[in-house]
Amino acid sequence: ELHRIPRPPHRVPLVGDVVGVNLRTPLQDSLRVGRQLGPIFRRKGFGKEIVFVWGAKLSGEMADESRFAKHVGLGVANLRPVAGDGLFTAYNHEPNWQLAHDVLAPGFSRDAMESYHAMMLEVTGRLTDRWDGERAAGRPVDVPGDMTKLTLETIARTGFGHDFGSFERTRPHPFVTAMVGALMYAQRLNVVPVPLAPVLMRSATRRNDADVAYLNRTVDDVVEARINGPAGDGDLLDRMLDTAHPETGERLTPENIRRQVITFLIAGHETTSGALSFALHYLAQHPDIATRARAEVDRVWGDTPQPAYDQVARLRYVRRVLDESLRLWPTAPAYAREAKEDTVLGGVHPMRRGAWALVLIPLLHRDPEVWGADAERFDPDRFEPGAVRARPAHTFKPFGTGARACIGRQFALHEATLVLGLLLRRYELRPDPAYRLRVAERLTLMPEGLTLHLDRRSPAA
Ligand code: HEM
Repeated sequence: ELHRIPRPPHRVPLVGDVVGVNLRTPLQDSLRVGRQLGPIFRRKGFGKEIVFVWGAKLSGEMADESRFAKHVGLGVANLRPVAGDGLFTAYNHEPNWQLAHDVLAPGFSRDAMESYHAMMLEVTGRLTDRWDGERAAGRPVDVPGDMTKLTLETIARTGFGHDFGSFERTRPHPFVTAMVGALMYAQRLNVVPVPLAPVLMRSATRRNDADVAYLNRTVDDVVEARINGPAGDGDLLDRMLDTAHPETGERLTPENIRRQVITFLIAGHETTSGALSFALHYLAQHPDIATRARAEVDRVWGDTPQPAYDQVARLRYVRRVLDESLRLWPTAPAYAREAKEDTVLGGVHPMRRGAWALVLIPLLHRDPEVWGADAERFDPDRFEPGAVRARPAHTFKPFGTGARACIGRQFALHEATLVLGLLLRRYELRPDPAYRLRVAERLTLMPEGLTLHLDRRSPAA
């Protein structure tokens, strides 16, 4: 029942809606098409027809857990060879999802977060040491590169007691290179014709096999070091190795633990790195907003060299800067939802049980009916409590929705707010005047080529 759903006008037989398609930016391509075709539309590429939804009303309906659930498709399904039945890529019906969710959820409780705080501070100290050096040498900093070092070290150390030594390296850790390779490969599989993929992607597939093998090896080493070495301090890995399910007594298998560790090492750093990078971009572009955020940090933190756990959530304005960055560029930019039973979306689009659609979060976050005619403008005040209350539910979804929403949300928000606070307090950010935001895609989004100049903080204004 697709005929009521608009599609691009120039469909090429066999091939599909490929006119003007850029294979490197499939998501931004869909955003462009979506702006023209409206809140629900479809595109066809090489036989696969995908329905996209972004209107606030339809997306809100798809957030109804009694009618819809997560669909493991496209990019997420393409990651199954990497992450198997790990939390992110598990099918809803796989028993390991509930088991792992129950075993790991306490690792994201308030108490657990508080226990990660000291390590987050320590890792941020490594970053500022490095940035102090670059500043002293008058060199700009590579924002996405360094944010990736920071977030990878943070999840690896807090979750698994592992030190990748990212800040001691000039090049990215090979784990990151292999991960980016695997993400790009999963993205490309979405845009090549399925039957031809093995031929067209022969060399890419070989490289991907090597990347996945490297990821597995790295993770096996991390797990083995824990099993043969001293216990951790109750981190995520300890929980997976030691905890039986409180009701069933079941335990995670070694193979599933491997899948979870890969999942957390990837999901736990790539998106947070992008979120921090976009936020720093917008802060550098909007000195007035940066000044206001910095004043809040000074007021709430004073000169305490190391802010306490509770002082982080009190940075309300900094948090709004982060929310507004995630509104414009949600770094995990889409999620898929499938109908649990036959249903009719928006009262007009019949969907059979199992039929699915992709929610395009960047367009949902810019729907003028919700966010106004100036939805493209960066304005953290949109997240003032009064403004948030005035908006309909399910209109801000950077962490997905429902039972399968992001388990690491609080982790990411605590880490990112802490880091932004520390950086604002220490530096003034100066953009390269020639820089125009370009967004790179590797399933996730990242500002491409973003560098910033750092200035010593001018005496308290
Ligand atoms: C799931 C976004 C940080 C671990 C998700 C989903 C989104 C998302 C949209 C749902 C995907 C879907 O429906 O298919 C983000 C963003 C982050 C972030 C934007 C940072 C700004 C983190 C962190 C961790 C993490 C720090 C771990 C420490 C996970 C896991 C899932 C998930 C394990 C799968 C949950 C499940 O299905 O049970 N995330 N995430 N994420 N995220 Fe995050």
